[in-house]
Amino acid sequence: MTKEFHNNGNGLTYHTITYGCQMNVRDSEIIAGLLENMGYSQQSRMEEADLLVINTCSVRHSAENKVFGKLGELNKLKKSRPNMMIALGGCMAQLPEVTPRLKKLGVDIVFGTHNLHELPVLIEQYRATKRKVVQVWQNHGEIIESIPSGHKEGLSAFINIMYGCNNFCSYCIVPYTRGRERSRNPADIIAEVERLPELGYKEVTFLGQNVNSYGQGLSQKVDFADLLMMADQIAGLDRIRFTTSHPKDMSDKLIDTIAAGDNICEHIHVPLQAGSNKILKMMNRGYSREHYLDLVGRMRERIPGVAITSDLIVGFPGEAEGEFLETLDMVERVRFDAAFTFIYSIRSGTKAALMEGQLDLDTKRDRLLRLNELQYGIAAEYNRALEGSVQEVLVEGCSKTNDEKLTSRTRNNRIVIFSGSKDLIGKLISVRITKGKTFSLFAETLD
Ligand code: SAH
Ligand code: SF4
Ligand code: F3S
Repeated sequence: MTKEFHNNGNGLTYHTITYGCQMNVRDSEIIAGLLENMGYSQQSRMEEADLLVINTCSVRHSAENKVFGKLGELNKLKKSRPNMMIALGGCMAQLPEVTPRLKKLGVDIVFGTHNLHELPVLIEQYRATKRKVVQVWQNHGEIIESIPSGHKEGLSAFINIMYGCNNFCSYCIVPYTRGRERSRNPADIIAEVERLPELGYKEVTFLGQNVNSYGQGLSQKVDFADLLMMADQIAGLDRIRFTTSHPKDMSDKLIDTIAAGDNICEHIHVPLQAGSNKILKMMNRGYSREHYLDLVGRMRERIPGVAITSDLIVGFPGEAEGEFLETLDMVERVRFDAAFTFIYSIRSGTKAALMEGQLDLDTKRDRLLRLNELQYGIAAEYNRALEGSVQEVLVEGCSKTNDEKLTSRTRNNRIVIFSGSKDLIGKLISVRITKGKTFSLFAETLD
């Protein structure tokens, strides 16, 4: 579909800036593929690129603020480089109230999450007319399998297995920015996975807002457990990961599949969000604390060594101190291996934005600190308990903070840092844990 623009970007460079979740990381790879197909080459220095593509997130106010801050910075840069083009896509682009502000901040091209593949057309339109182009589809079209995009080089590849979300948790903007849930055909997904080993990948992560409900609406009767099993049969991959699992859709079949699969990692990210049944109901999460505890029991019983991680929100509208304490109580009972914790952020257009009892920032901050103190303590205890043990890790590369060290990961997603030869990158090896900290482990190689 982009053939007509083949070579139009010859001699020009692009740079992508990505905010938000893994879906956006994957979308940015697709964007890079589209641009390279047009002849653009990647420029690692943002200041020197001819085309900047910003892939945005609107899940919380802070995520949007980062983008506005960046646009302010780029606006200055654009004064010295007037020919530089700025394109903006992603979740913020889907929100009609945001687009006028973007245009004022120097964005030339706005494209949405449903029409990434149109970016080449929009760029050419802008270059021909020099007039700002805004093209955002409010609804998703058919899933397009033919976009010419590979995966970035590396060991670990992200693969979308589904798009959108139907859950409408009352706080969340994602169903509005990503549209309704739709699953890719298993054959397309498996064909994509099959190509990974020969490209040097060792790991794949299946992405979806709720991977547990994969398969609905497909003509073939297939669910997420079936898809995992198909992927597990593919030779040459060491690890299969997936995110995110919704607690209401986690079946026993899926739990047993995770336990049975040779390459399926024992790590389940299954966000609880809140510990009080009243708040869970107001969030429209579709499960109770009792259901969640039962689920945790089943996962731990059937999947030896499983790591359970979560997202938690504090300060949802109307959350009384006692209800917040129920979240702390759940954290103590479940003992998450790790958790991402967030302050509730009002997203206009969502149900919760209109609820009474919005809390002040001080209360929310105080609750976040208390939650983090508890959760970080638990994570550190888990990690300290691993001191002295031998763990199998996949060596991912040099540590970001210390080029002398290597960074690796256990099957249950713990980061392990150790000294070793760079030849180990890409290999599965055993290391001995010497120190367990809150967010990572330190180790030594075995002689
Ligand atoms: N689909 C995934 C996660 C999507 S967004 C799931 O359902 O688990 C990632 C996380 O951001 C959510 O799990 C939630 O904890 C958090 N989040 C979403 N909307 C938020 C909001 N308005 N304020 C604060 N945190 C939010
Ligand atoms: Fe948002 Fe809920 Fe959908 Fe996750 S499941 S993306 S939190 S609406
Ligand atoms: Fe953000 Fe959109 Fe992902 S809102 S978290 S980039 S789906």
